[in-house]
This record gives sequence, structure tokens and C-alpha cells, in this order.
Amino acid sequence: MNSKLIDRFGVQDTPFFYYDLNLLQQNVDALKSASSKNNFHVHYAIKANANSRVLELISKSGLGADCVSGNEIRASIESGFTPNKVVFAGVGKSDKEINYALSKDIFCFNCESIQEIEVINELAAKQDKVADIALRLNPNVNAYTHAYITTGLEENKFGINAWELEEVLQVIESCKNINLIGLHFHIGSQITDLKPFKNLCNKINELQQWFLSRNVKIKHINVGGGLGIDYQTPDLHPLPPYEEYFKIFHDFLELQPNQDVHFELGRSITGTMGTLVSQVLYVKKGINTNFLILDAGMTELIRPALYQSYHKIENLSKRHLDDLSREKYDVVGPICESSDCFGKNVVLQQTERGDLIGIRSAGAYGEVMASSYNLRDKAKVLF
Ligand code: LLP
Repeated sequence: MNSKLIDRFGVQDTPFFYYDLNLLQQNVDALKSASSKNNFHVHYAIKANANSRVLELISKSGLGADCVSGNEIRASIESGFTPNKVVFAGVGKSDKEINYALSKDIFCFNCESIQEIEVINELAAKQDKVADIALRLNPNVNAYTHAYITTGLEENKFGINAWELEEVLQVIESCKNINLIGLHFHIGSQITDLKPFKNLCNKINELQQWFLSRNVKIKHINVGGGLGIDYQTPDLHPLPPYEEYFKIFHDFLELQPNQDVHFELGRSITGTMGTLVSQVLYVKKGINTNFLILDAGMTELIRPALYQSYHKIENLSKRHLDDLSREKYDVVGPICESSDCFGKNVVLQQTERGDLIGIRSAGAYGEVMASSYNLRDKAKVLF
């Protein structure tokens, strides 16, 4: 964010999210260029940021959408995503959501249990349709990320486990309104060491052999999302390492002829373009620390409270005043919860009431996870 923008925002009501749409466009362009070389298909994971301007920009680039609720499907279609590029995932799809997705003829349902397959079959029969499905398989691959955002282990609630597969195939055989077109995987989120993705490829290759040995043809392999971003130094790495990431799948996935590969990236697309801008309400002396009490809290950005996540914090008002002496602050919000803390021992320029504070990399899982706890207003979004 440059100083002109800060001047512009100084007069606005805080807190608000600032989304840098130029950076988002650069990101999408880099993503398209890295993925098109391999003819991979990317679906944007709407759950990361479902702001309509953001969705419109991404849909214009031709990406598909990865949705986990009926409302996400509706928002994606209304923002220009074509239904035949929409995938519908999630461990608990309701009948209403399934019916809506069937009525829109979406590309694929990513199914997570035997019962879900049976329900989709029944509802599809009532609409006289055949639903294309992918099986979400649990690859039991460790993503080495925060426990709350690890999904690919047998102990997680997600996906179908290998030992159930025989039965799953029998059920699919008996379901006349289901067509198995793909396998789906997702091992977790904010993965910065790319090795788990290589392990995922190896696991997919093994599982593919199992299906081949039973003469089951699989057209689509969906490897999910999870590519992490650099929360520590966002200005050094405003774009994720797309080339390296896609190369892993190119090098290690053993594809059958005419098989397509699909990705569901969320955070890596929208994460770095967002900054939560807040104002210092009070500077308060504690026993061992000084508190900066902001007008933004866990109601706007819950990630630090929920996952102890790091977000770079900057004093935007004093950003260019490097000669000022520095202080350590605990940067906290106004919410009545002790976990309402954005960062402890944050080193900043001497900060005063009224200074604008930027909490960086808040473009993914920020606005969408906001709540009205304490009857708070919804933060605005500026572009
Ligand atoms: N596909 C599936 C099946 C998923 O469950 C997710 C994210 C994605 C794709 C997109 O993952 P991404 O590329 O964004 O890592 N609220 C947490 C993150 C939860 C991720 C949930 N699933 C956070 O703030 O870190």
C-alpha cells in the first residue's frame, strides 16, 4: 500500500479491508501462465474470499470455482463462473444444496461418504438427471501444517478411507443416477514446504493402480488446494511459487492417457492482496508490555485467535519514518476475549492514538470468517 492510498484511507471509517485488485490480477495472470503450460484446470476455492468484485475478476480469467455450500455455488454463478466449471465439495452437503447444484448442472460433486453418494443418487433420480461425481479419498499424507487445517489424515473427518473402496464401488455400481468421473484429494492448507505435494502424487499413483486393476476408468484427478503464502515477508513474495508448485504435479503424477488434472487453490490466489486496516484507539501501559488497542479484532480477522497464525503488522501512518525509535507492543482488539490478540511483542515505530495499522495478508479467510460477535458492524471493503 503506498502513502497516497494511506492518505485516501485516513478519512475513512476503520476498520476496513483493502483489496489490491492490481496485485490480484497479477496473481491470476501468473497462475494462468504457470498452469496452462501443463494444461491443468484451476478452480478458485471461493471459501477463501467470496467478495463479488474479487469473484468477478477471477471468473473473467476463465478459472473454475470450488464451492462448499449452495450459497457459494449461487455466488460463483452470479459472478460469472460457468456452472460446468463448478465443483461442489464438503463433508455435509444438505439435500437443499444438492438439489440446487443438480438444477444448475454443475461439473462435479466431490463425495465424502457412501451415504452421501446414495443421497445424491436418489435426489438426481427425482430430477431425472445423472450426477457426475468424484470420490474424495483420504490419502493419509501429512501436510505438516497447523492441526486445524490438516485434512488428509485418516483421523480427520474428511474423505473416504482406502479400506472402504471395495464397498464404495459396489454402491456406485448400483446407483443408476451417479456417474463416477474423478478422484479428489486435499491434504491441508498453508503448505509452504512443497514435499507433501510430492508425497500426495505418489499416493495418487498408488491409488490409481488400484482402480486400474478393477478396470474403473477415471477421467479427472483433482489434487485440491493448499499452496501456502509468505505471511512473514509479504513484500518479498507477493506472488506464490506457482511454477515450482505445478512442476511437482507435472513431474510426479503418473497420468493415464487423456486424464485431466484439477486444482482448488484459495489462499494462494487472494491471500496477499488483502490488508486489514485499523486505527489505534488507545496505547495502554501493561506491567511488562505496552498494548496497542485497535478498533479491529477477531471479529474481522479470526486467524490469529483460532490458529495462532502470524500476520505481519505495520504502522501505516509512520511507515516511512524510519528514524523513529522502536517499541514492542502487544497488538490487541476490542473484543471481550483474551484470545483477541493479533500479535505479541510486535516491534513498531513509536505509535500513537489515531495511527493506522495494517494487518497484512488478510485477503484469504479474513472477511469470509468475520462474525458479528459483540454486535459488531461488518467491516467495509475498499479497492
Ligand atoms: N479444497 C478443499 C477440499 C478444501 O478443504 C480447501 C480449504 C481448499 C480446497 C482450499 O485450500 P487453500 O488453497 O486455500 O489452502 N480458515 C483456514 C483455512 C481453512 C481451509 C479449508 N479448506 C485458515 O484461515 O487458515
